[in-house]
Amino acid sequence: MTSGMPVIPHHVAIVMDGNGRWATKRFLPRVAGHKKGVDALRACVRHCGERGVKVLTVFAFSSENWNRPAEEVSGLMELLALALAREVPALHGEGVRIQFVGNRSALAPKVRAGLAQAEAATAANVRLQLNICFNYGGRWDIAQAAAQLAASGTPITEQSLHGAMAMAHVPDPDLVIRTGGEQRISNFLLWQVAYSELYFSDKLWPDFDAAALDAAIADYASRERRFGKVSGQVAPSPAKKVA
Ligand code: FPP
Repeated sequence: MTSGMPVIPHHVAIVMDGNGRWATKRFLPRVAGHKKGVDALRACVRHCGERGVKVLTVFAFSSENWNRPAEEVSGLMELLALALAREVPALHGEGVRIQFVGNRSALAPKVRAGLAQAEAATAANVRLQLNICFNYGGRWDIAQAAAQLAASGTPITEQSLHGAMAMAHVPDPDLVIRTGGEQRISNFLLWQVAYSELYFSDKLWPDFDAAALDAAIADYASRERRFGKVSGQVAPSPAKKVA
């Protein structure tokens, strides 16, 4: 990368919020907003690949989303199955490796099989790693990692805990984006966001297009990441560093 070019975050994580409001504003059922959300996700994956982002993690269904109306929960499950059938071949062609992160034990066997199939089909791809957090919660991940260590008698340290997490296969996110105007983490990647740059957009997720993603990346490039140090110790900062 030449001097003056914005630095691209290696790992971008996104809370795709605002699908319901997007639909309600148009007098459509909420699930129509989630469908539009899949379109936005497809475009976002493509754009991340083009920009050189190596890892994209998205929050598709949280541990708390089970509390939504049954119709919306079943709509999201169906949408997942449909999206996998429709999108995986093209994503595979674009070199995207898909992995699901979350508690699969509560998912229907058919859904679990769909996840495993998508993972197996794309396992050898290296251009962009797409983590889809589904039935995921940050607290669930910390607790399941601690339980694994306790069961095997492994001492609990920051390093061992980190290694037992469902997100251990990727480095922590550099940039976390939340759309939809809310400014909170909502149990997403609690452990991993310790030093992430946070970016909040008022756009509803279905409206979050390539230009909006570029704006988030440009904002990230303007930040100075200090990781607990002072400014003089980190210049040029990882976010501003040029190759
Ligand atoms: C939050 O918007 C969004 C979700 C709970 C689901 C996100 C899912 C997608 C973008 C579809 C892609 C997912 C699959 C199945 C691969 P919200 O419903 O909370 O919106 P609101 O805040 O406007 O109500």
